[in-house]
Amino acid sequence: MNKLSNNNFGALRVFHNPQSALKDTPYGQPASATISRERFEIAMNEISKWSDYEATPLINLAGLAKKNGISSLFYKDESERFNLDSFKALGGAYATERLLFSHIKEQIAGTTPTVSDLLNGRYKEITSKVTVACATDGNHGRSVAWGARMFGCNCIIFIHADVSEGRKKAIEAYGAKVHRIKGDYDDSIREIAIAAEENGWFIVSDTSYEGYVDVPRDVMQGYTVMVEEALSQLPNGVLPSHVFIQGGVGGLAGAVCGHLWETLGAERPRFVVVEPRRADCLYESALHEKPMPAKGDLETVMAGLACGEVSLIAWDILCTGVNDFITIPDTLVGPTMCLLADGVGDDIPIVAGESAVAGMAVVLEANKDKALAGALGLGPDSSVIIFGTEGASDPEIYQQLVGRCAKEVKLAS
Ligand SMILES: Cc1ncc(COP(=O)(O)O)c(C=O)c1O
Repeated sequence: MNKLSNNNFGALRVFHNPQSALKDTPYGQPASATISRERFEIAMNEISKWSDYEATPLINLAGLAKKNGISSLFYKDESERFNLDSFKALGGAYATERLLFSHIKEQIAGTTPTVSDLLNGRYKEITSKVTVACATDGNHGRSVAWGARMFGCNCIIFIHADVSEGRKKAIEAYGAKVHRIKGDYDDSIREIAIAAEENGWFIVSDTSYEGYVDVPRDVMQGYTVMVEEALSQLPNGVLPSHVFIQGGVGGLAGAVCGHLWETLGAERPRFVVVEPRRADCLYESALHEKPMPAKGDLETVMAGLACGEVSLIAWDILCTGVNDFITIPDTLVGPTMCLLADGVGDDIPIVAGESAVAGMAVVLEANKDKALAGALGLGPDSSVIIFGTEGASDPEIYQQLVGRCAKEVKLAS
């Protein structure tokens, strides 16, 4: 275990990754086996054909950038992605589509189904007999349930004890059956694997483990649509110096990291992964230089990040693609959500959910602690992108933390 560069800055723990690749290291295996431009083109082509596809906004938070002493701060706002409240809409639904394509091809040799075939119910006979299933702490399950409804198959979702009733209802709204288990997120993954085996369901998981890589790879590739959108929305000539991204199992971070590495090469930004202090599996893995479980008990307000084990294919990218791993306490979450809801200067108010703000919280802390800013190389020349991965995905919790509902925040803009 490498302890040398494991530092505390107040309640934040920062670990500079000694394994991070040099800037000019070309993108390649094993990362490219998961995230690649070739598969991105396919994902973009497919997802852009779904009805209501629209790029989400990249918001220039000039007021907040100025207040934090950096050159620019861009916020990719995923709160309205496909009206599902989070970026996850891109991943689970895309993997469901790909799974149905393969299944139809297996059933009818020589067919090449298209997205419009699925949307028009051309293979309904086949798809209506398929059940997709996954474990979730909310957003991923919602995406799979939405995809299943859109593409005409059945859906069963397992949630763990701490998933809120609001999130359960949001999944059921798409016609999925939802089953609550007793343990935590990792227990729900194990339980659904057994149930799927017994019932012939197809698992659409956002995390990969030994022997299970194809579906989570499609999930991650779906996320890269968001990254490409963000790059194309940056003002001319601006390249980010830093990306701060929140980590659960690492699928999101791996997708963003891989896509930026392949697309920008040596010009890619410093890549910082931020997790809840009590759900720190990526941080622990970095410290031990191999996939390790979280040390914490997974109790965190950042529900989407309450994961105890890393996704193996994501780790293949992150182990050398990440520059810094950070953990933060829950106490930073509410105030960061409030600050975004209020807006600074002329910045528009933003509805950011609990799992969307971890990266932003670190940028704000760095403004208060010059040593932290120095350790992360943040200063007047820095241009930062934050992926604001969810809006008020649980309206009740949002209201509790911000003191207003999402609608009120939006009306103020
Ligand atoms: C809103 C939100 N942001 C970030 C993440 C983290 O994604 P991953 O588990 O792929 O690291 C999640 C996971 O569910 C999420 O719901």
